[in-house]
Formats: sequence, C-alpha cells, structure tokens
Amino acid sequence: MHDTETGHPADLMDKLVSLCKRRGFIFQSSEIYGGLGSVYDYGPLGAELKNNIRDDWWSAMVHRHEDIEGIESGILMHPEVWVASGHVGGFTDPLTECRNCHRRFRADELEEVAAGNVAAQQCPVCGTTGEFTEPRQFNLMFKTFMGPVEEDAAIVYLRPETAQGSYVNFRNVADSARQKIPFGVAQIGKAFRNEITPGNFIFRTREFEQMEMQFFVKPGTDEEWFEVWRERRMAWVRSLGIRSERLRLHPHGPDELAHYAKRAEDIQYLFPFGWQEFEGIHNRTDFDLTRHQERAGKKLEYFEQATNERYVPYVVETAVGLNRALLVVLADAYDEEEVESETRVVLRLAPHLAPVKAAVFPLVKKDGMPEIAEKLAADLRGRLNVFYDASGSIGRRYRRQDEAGTPFCVTIDGQTVEDDSVTVRDRDTLEQVRVPLDGVLAFVQDAVSAARRDG
Ligand code: GAP
Repeated sequence: MHDTETGHPADLMDKLVSLCKRRGFIFQSSEIYGGLGSVYDYGPLGAELKNNIRDDWWSAMVHRHEDIEGIESGILMHPEVWVASGHVGGFTDPLTECRNCHRRFRADELEEVAAGNVAAQQCPVCGTTGEFTEPRQFNLMFKTFMGPVEEDAAIVYLRPETAQGSYVNFRNVADSARQKIPFGVAQIGKAFRNEITPGNFIFRTREFEQMEMQFFVKPGTDEEWFEVWRERRMAWVRSLGIRSERLRLHPHGPDELAHYAKRAEDIQYLFPFGWQEFEGIHNRTDFDLTRHQERAGKKLEYFEQATNERYVPYVVETAVGLNRALLVVLADAYDEEEVESETRVVLRLAPHLAPVKAAVFPLVKKDGMPEIAEKLAADLRGRLNVFYDASGSIGRRYRRQDEAGTPFCVTIDGQTVEDDSVTVRDRDTLEQVRVPLDGVLAFVQDAVSAARRDG
C-alpha cells in the first residue's frame, strides 16, 4: 500500500523509526532514562550514512571548487556576535500555552491564535477551548555560562547557525588563503535551537548539524550568483539519488523571509507529512558583515584592485541540514516490494552513500567457503566498508543487507572453490553475476564512483 499523494509506502514515518532502531541507524538519546525529547543518537549504520553525506557535501563544495575554502569555527562565540547578527533581538518564535494541559505551541501553527482569535482556539492535545495564553516571543537560542562561577560568568550561546563563524572569519580566510571576490567559505557543524515544537523524528530537533556555505560577491552580482547556486545545489540534491518528482523549489514570500534575507528559496522534499524545506538558498546582502563591522568596530570591507573599489561584499548562502538531508535520503530510499510472496524491505540508497558497500557471505559454513570469504572481507576492509556474515540462511542474510541499504552481496559458493569466481547480487535488480574473486574490489569501487560522479 502506498500513499496516493506522496507515493511513499503507507505509514512510512513509523516504519522508518522502527527500521532505524532495529538496524542501528538512529536511537533516541538517553533511551535507558526514558529519552531526551527530540534529541537522537546515530548508531553504527546511521553514523556511516551521515559521514557519507557529510563527506559528499564537503567534496562537492570545497574540493571541487577552487573558489571555496572550508573552515571549522567554534560552537561558542563571543556573545556580541549574536547581538550584531540580530539573533538576540529577533531569533524568536511566537509561543502560546494551553492553561489547561500546559502544552506549548507555536502560535503561528494554531489557526485561530494565528488569526488573533485566541479565545476561539481549541487545544489539539486536551480539547479545551479558550484557554490559550496571548502569544509572546520566545528566543530560540540556548544559553549557557562561560567561567567557573555561574553568577559572575558571561552568558554565551550555543550557535543557532554556523554562518556567523564564517562571517567573523571573512578577513582571516580571504587574507590567509589569498582568495579574491567572488569566493566562498564553507563549514559543517552542530547548531542548536530551542524549538517550541520539535518533531517528525529527526526532521526538527533541538540539536542538529548544518552544512553551510557563504559565497561573498560584489554587490550588484548577487542576483546572478543566487541563480548559479540554486542550480548547483539542486544538482547536488539530485546526485543523492532523490526522485525529482519529490523535489521542488519554494521561493519565500515577504512574510516568510528571515530577518537577514532579501531573497530566499527553499529546496523542498515531499515528505510523508507534506512538502517541507531541507535546504535554503539565501541572499543575505551585506547585512551580516555590515552589522559585525559596526558592532566590532573592525573593517570588513574588500578592496578590489582591478577597479580600485572598496565595498562590503554581499553574501549568497546555501544552508542545508545534515540530519534533515539524511531523513530525505532515508525516506526516498525506503521501499517495499513483493518477492516470492514475501514483503521485501529495501533501502535503495545511492551506492556512494550506503553505509556498507558490500556484504561478504560464505554460502555454507564448510568446504573451505568461510576461509575464502573471511580472506576476501579482510582484503576489502580498509578500502571499502564491508560486512562479513555467515549466520542464518542466505535468504535472511540478503534481507538484512537489503534493509541496511547494502548495494552488493558477494557470495562464496561451491563454484568459487573450483574457479575463483563469486556471485555478486545487486540489491535493486536482484540480478546475480559472476565476478572473479580478485575483481570484486574494482567491481564495487566502480559502481560507487559512478554514483558519485553523477553529482
Ligand atoms: N544560516 C541560515 C540558516 O540557518 P535555516 O533555514 O534556519 O537557515 C538551514 O536553516 C537548514 O538547517 C534548514 O533548511 C534545515 O535543513 C536545517 N534546520 C534548521 N532548523 C532545524 C532543526 N530544528 N532541526 C533540524 N534541522 C534544522
């Protein structure tokens, strides 16, 4: 059964949560203590998948662009950064609370409250009407203290975006890497937001990771660069193997724009719970650099030798959530099909993203097969993430790897002992081909790099 609107298998989110726990992709944080709301841990397969998406982004953005430098700035920054950026004053969501059940909501997500009819709003949790508080602005930044004595210590914030670390380092990067405008600064790192309504598994959480790139351009060329980066980012998203009918661009209307943006477009995915953003392309103008220049009292201008001009660059930003991208990848890859009157669950992950590239099995635990299989797995290990499995029927072993998204299963059988060839089974087509034992590495590597090259 598939959902007619999204094409996803029915109840996909429940199935994904269950598969992620069962197979070791994602666990709830501090589960043995009852869990910590909306924080998740990544298990063995999840950490691999996350690393693969992260590495692919870094390679696509930093290594493949001469004009982009990668950095890594601290999660904690000088508190003035967040005053200058407008986050202390304006990074808020409107909060309302039901006085009866004390559940809190974003006011803009409750129809009557959003329309100003607080008294007419029914609580979606306890059903009481007319008990909502007047909305008040709630700042989403997490605060903590720096220094050993809490009372005397300075308040610092856990960054709500990585972008500011790139802005305050604009001069450092330009000077040390001898980059000329236009050029970009990319980074990947944790961000924290005290979201009022986190949810939908890892879609909206309070701790997450961003992959952001700030492209510094000459004012007046910003619109052009915006288009360039929107197209490049869409190409990257497609290279993850995401179905194009579940992707669309959503330009922001004036009431949707963040406080720093002149123009923004989201790349949205058709999740089982509807169209939602997972990446944003923003024209942030000279907003951030100008604000830092004023507040820090340090020049953040650029001198263009060719024209003798001095200006504060404009910024075109591309910002994607790593965890949210991972959810997109998982949701799009999850599939169910009937094979020999059994339901097969398969993650059709692009080979370059798959946590395990190949599983190696001896068909049976005798006749020298385990020894050959173990040796093959050992030879492949270090060059590919491989998994050795000798337990259970071959059918069960295939199914386990299908659920893990492993693109190839390599089986050592009776014929291997005779002619040094193995069976390689393709996860998606279920086709089996014979490959020489010493050709397995190249076979799998070719498939992985072909998938990566498409990006
Ligand atoms: N620097 C710009 C910026 O932070 P954003 O649209 O607020 O822009 C960028 O965030 C991306 O970060 C989003 O498209 C989303 O993928 C991810 N993101 C934002 N808040 C998130 C949350 N609470 N949980 C998971 N991912 C989040």
